[in-house]
Amino acid sequence: MLDNRPRFATRFGVIATTVGSAVGLGNIWRFPYEAGAHGGGAFLILYIACIAFIGIPVVCAEFVMGRASRLNIFGAFRTLAPRGGRRWAVVGGMGIMASIMILSFYSVVAGWTIEYLWQSVAGTLADIDSAGRHAAFDTFTGGWRCVMWTIVILALNGVIMLGGVQKGIERASNWLMPVLFLLLVVLAVNSLLLPGAADGLKFFFTPDFSSMTADDVLAALGQAFFSLSLGLGTMMIYGSYFSSRTRLVRSAATTAALDTLVAITAGVIIFPAVFSYGAEPSAGPKLVFEVLPDIFNHMSGGSVWSSAFFLLLLLASLTSTISMSEISVAYFCEQWRMKRRTAVVVNFVLVASLGTLCALSFGPLAHRTVFGMTFFNLFDFVTSNVMMPLGGMLISFFTGWILDRRILESELSPTPRAIVRGIAFSLRYVAPGAIAIIFVNGLL
Ligand code: TRP
Repeated sequence: MLDNRPRFATRFGVIATTVGSAVGLGNIWRFPYEAGAHGGGAFLILYIACIAFIGIPVVCAEFVMGRASRLNIFGAFRTLAPRGGRRWAVVGGMGIMASIMILSFYSVVAGWTIEYLWQSVAGTLADIDSAGRHAAFDTFTGGWRCVMWTIVILALNGVIMLGGVQKGIERASNWLMPVLFLLLVVLAVNSLLLPGAADGLKFFFTPDFSSMTADDVLAALGQAFFSLSLGLGTMMIYGSYFSSRTRLVRSAATTAALDTLVAITAGVIIFPAVFSYGAEPSAGPKLVFEVLPDIFNHMSGGSVWSSAFFLLLLLASLTSTISMSEISVAYFCEQWRMKRRTAVVVNFVLVASLGTLCALSFGPLAHRTVFGMTFFNLFDFVTSNVMMPLGGMLISFFTGWILDRRILESELSPTPRAIVRGIAFSLRYVAPGAIAIIFVNGLL
């Protein structure tokens, strides 16, 4: 085992980096529209149950595999599996491919946030009326400008990655996360003071299970996985940088709690605003890019609020993109013996090329489809519906059934036995079973 590997320097750094990975577009862009489309309060409760009973155990599983092997996901499976782990290493390979694909389309959406931030600051976002909002979004996402922003995101990401684990990733997260929390609180207070805020809160916090369907349950579990960055080895690679004294269960629980808190706060920012201005909560992916700018437009000081909001989205996405890149960069360094700088450049070139295909999926490449999907939709579909659930299921199965039980127990200690048993139970039965159900349903 390589022991000149870097470690996160502080406990704050451990939480800032893992929460930085977890909190992203998934919380602020995806969660509100999923909750809006799947019934508000009832979705929230299902989501919290998925995080607690499946999400936290799988985060623990990734931490355990990372710290026990001190390697990237590919190397972790190879060293921890019995008999050379050749078969299990395939799961690692899949995680690396998936991380490159997710980063490719994720950085496109992250790029959109730069455009919206830019326009908020310049004041041009306020010049568009509600009727023109949709066309403006289509024109922008259909053009080359969004390719430029995708590359800018990846370049920013690359610069942080070049700094390495402590001076790049940890330092950036230590700065960005507190700013992000501050912006969240300010925006939430603003929303709560809007007239009619209570209706939004009622929608978001009052559960109505009567119209709940299996589809809503699946959406909640899928969202929990995406939001906790599970299934591809993100939490695994971060776990591999934890000191041997870091408490895994406690860190997993803290990460999940803060991630959920951010998602809830995003709901508290968005739903009162949506209801206060009579917009539709179930607007889907365009909720944040078409509905919100319009709402900000009607608020006093609207451009300040929209600048703060899109800055929040941008910072949140950056700490997530670095966690996705670390999966493949660590793999290139450790398995292919590349220098970090070379690995960062290789990763940039790869993702920038695929990212360009995704960015152009809304315009020039809209008619280039594979299996009937544009590149953007294909990458999103294959990663969210196939690779992430499959990866998560195999990671939990592996730590529950294949990994030496003593490794699991010693990595999780000191934690009360009952909790360790509960985690092992979820990893053996609950997590793989539940994920298998979403997986099959997601494909149907
Ligand atoms: N969790 C992040 C979000 O909510 C996205 C993310 C980061 C991710 N790393 C990941 C998703 C790895 C899946 C796998 O936006």
